Amino acid sequence: MSSANPLIFDSNTAALSEPPLLSHTPIIGHVLEMARDPQQVFVRGYRELGPVFRIKVLNRTMYAIAGPEAFEFVAQGGEKNLSAGPLLGATVLEIGAQRSLVTVEGAEHAHMRKSQRAVYSRSAFMSGAPVALARTQLRLEKWKTGDQLDMFSTFQRLTMEQLGLALINEEANDYFDDVRIYIGTVLNVYVHGLSPKWVLKLPQFLRAKQRFLEIGKQILEKRRASDKAQRDLIDVTLSYKDDDGNAFTELEMLMSIMSPFVAGMDTVAAMSSFLLYDLLAHPDILRQVLTEIDQHLDVSNFSAEMFMKMPTLHAAAIETMRMHTIAVAQPREAINAFSVNGFSIPKGAQVMVSGSVSHFLDRFYADPYRYTPDRHHAPRQEFRQKHAYAPYGIGARLCLGAGIAEVQFPLNVAMWLKRFEVMLDPPSYRLKIANNPTPHPSNFKIKITAVR
Ligand code: HEM
Repeated sequence: MSSANPLIFDSNTAALSEPPLLSHTPIIGHVLEMARDPQQVFVRGYRELGPVFRIKVLNRTMYAIAGPEAFEFVAQGGEKNLSAGPLLGATVLEIGAQRSLVTVEGAEHAHMRKSQRAVYSRSAFMSGAPVALARTQLRLEKWKTGDQLDMFSTFQRLTMEQLGLALINEEANDYFDDVRIYIGTVLNVYVHGLSPKWVLKLPQFLRAKQRFLEIGKQILEKRRASDKAQRDLIDVTLSYKDDDGNAFTELEMLMSIMSPFVAGMDTVAAMSSFLLYDLLAHPDILRQVLTEIDQHLDVSNFSAEMFMKMPTLHAAAIETMRMHTIAVAQPREAINAFSVNGFSIPKGAQVMVSGSVSHFLDRFYADPYRYTPDRHHAPRQEFRQKHAYAPYGIGARLCLGAGIAEVQFPLNVAMWLKRFEVMLDPPSYRLKIANNPTPHPSNFKIKITAVR
């Protein structure tokens, strides 16, 4: 698939028209629709207006480049007109750090990414997995029949502990709420435009930010006092030098070592929750998954290859990623004026690049709103079509933790289902999405009906 219109970049945009504005509610724009299901705002825009359009959230206008054309845009070098820094990097800039993976661009970004690739790899996670998963098993043992749980926050806690133990050999459990509030508030203000800036002055946020800094500092100091080389993200951060030989500043180091929590906690917890919901909502698929888990999941000897023996779980995880993409659009700022498909994008515009709109196009997926893991088995493998699947973004900033996430979120659900029989609570619950700050099932609760 290639775009119908070739994408043309040009700095002379004066004579071109603005992209069309998606129909919206007066004054508030798309704010309610975005809060309800941001993915479908972009899908509607693509269907009604084509790959380039504008949306409006309160007084902010965003320019969308969506669908398979978004892949083309990136393939043709369109990213060079965009910067991730001011938006995506808000969690970094807010504490006064400057350089991090999500704030630097171009060659500096490539250099930093290369230095961190190994410590964000699946094998890095797997080498820490025995300790992390043993801890999760202990956590699971404390829940009993009759317990009612909110699954998003439950998975957030489990995920945060696993990432800490596996990637930085540390845990920050006592700071869970602070990390959650810090990340959520900053993303809502700067990226989604859903909260006003004054919330950054509220005592609850200031306390969370101060404690976020406190735990980061403690972890760094502890490692400096230790003479044991760990070769993990902390050691790589402490020894990092940019191309000019400059080390990170203290705040940049702090942000770097806290990044697994910032990038991984909400994302993995959201996907774990969506997958568990999808399985509970499709009992036939759940039954097949349970058979696979009972036969093949051995947590004390876990290896990522185990998923090969659990094809239904694997396909269900891909289908959940397709239907409930949380990285709906990658937020960028235009650093030059440019044109795309004959529309002008002004310098300074907020641009949302949404490859995941393809997930709902019937040219790629038969009956795209139907949960059908089977579509991902060979030979069908719908997700493997060119420009059809982008749950981890597209381009130079493709998720560095994708190899971890692909293992971690289905594993969270598999461990849960191996230990408990559960039901939706209430049984009539139907999926609602909260977009705060990462899309996740809203008010998704389960009741444990038996310990297996
Ligand atoms: C299912 C869970 C996850 C999803 C859907 C996801 C999605 C994404 C997306 C879409 C981006 C690109 C953002 C952009 O271009 O604006 C990204 C970047 C990133 N992710 Fe993930 N992520 C997940 C889990 C994780 C985990 C578990 C980690 C690490 C522990 C992680 C680490 C990162 C890092 C470091 C980046 C920045 C890469 C760069 O700028 O070069 N992610 N992620």
